[in-house]
Amino acid sequence: MARLRVGVLLSGRGSNLRALLDACADPDYPAEIVLVVTDRAKAPGLAVAAVAGIPGIVVPHSARPAFATGVDALLRDRQVELVCLAGFMRVLDASFVEAWRDRMVNIHPSLLPAFPGLGAQRQALAAGVRFAGCTVHFVRPEVDAGPIIAQAVVPAQPNDDEASLSARILEVEHRLYPLALRLIAEGRVRVVAEKVEIDGWRAPAITVLNPCERLRDQL
Ligand code: GRF
Repeated sequence: MARLRVGVLLSGRGSNLRALLDACADPDYPAEIVLVVTDRAKAPGLAVAAVAGIPGIVVPHSARPAFATGVDALLRDRQVELVCLAGFMRVLDASFVEAWRDRMVNIHPSLLPAFPGLGAQRQALAAGVRFAGCTVHFVRPEVDAGPIIAQAVVPAQPNDDEASLSARILEVEHRLYPLALRLIAEGRVRVVAEKVEIDGWRAPAITVLNPCERLRDQL
C-alpha cells in the first residue's frame, strides 16, 4: 500500500523529526517524510533531515500570508498529504490552516487544553501540577488548539525544574508522535464534531496517583 506522504515544518532542534524518521525507517510503517521546511536557516533540524536524505528547504519568514503561500506551494509540489508541525515556532496564516484543515497536526509539550503557548513546561511547574505530558492534535487557527488525537502523561517529581520536566516530556513525545502519525496514516482517525474518533482505540487500564506513598504504587 502507498505510504502517506508527510511534510514536516520545524524551527529548531528536530528531535521529533528524528523520532518520526526513525519510525518511517521501518518498511511496514505506513507514512514517509518527503519534505522538511523551516523558517530558520540555522535550524539544527535541517541537519537531521540531511542525514536521512530528505530535502530540507528554508523559507525565510516574511509577511505571514507570503510565507504561507510559499510553504503551501512547496507542500503541493511534493504532493504532501499531511503536515506535521514539529517545533515550528511561527503562528501560521489562518487561510493556510484552513486549507490544511484536518490534514495538519502539531505536538505540544502539555496536556492540552492546559498550558498552550510558549513555555508550557514552565507554566505546568508554576501551576504545581502533579502530572504533565504532551498532546498531538489537529491544527486550528488558535495557537495550540484543535481536536486531540493522542496524549501521553508523565509525573511531575518533587525536585523538577524546567529542564528535567522538559526532558521527561520529550522522551514521551518521541513515542507519541510516531504513534499518532501511524494511526492517521492507517486511515483510522477522523474528526467528528471537532472531536477525534479512532477506529480500534484502546485506552490503558491503569490509573496513577501522584503522590503515591508506597513503592508498589509506583510500579
Ligand atoms: C517539542 O517540545 C514540541 O513539543 C514543541 O517544540 C519542541 C520541539 O522539539 N512543539 P524538537 O525540535 O522536536 O526537538
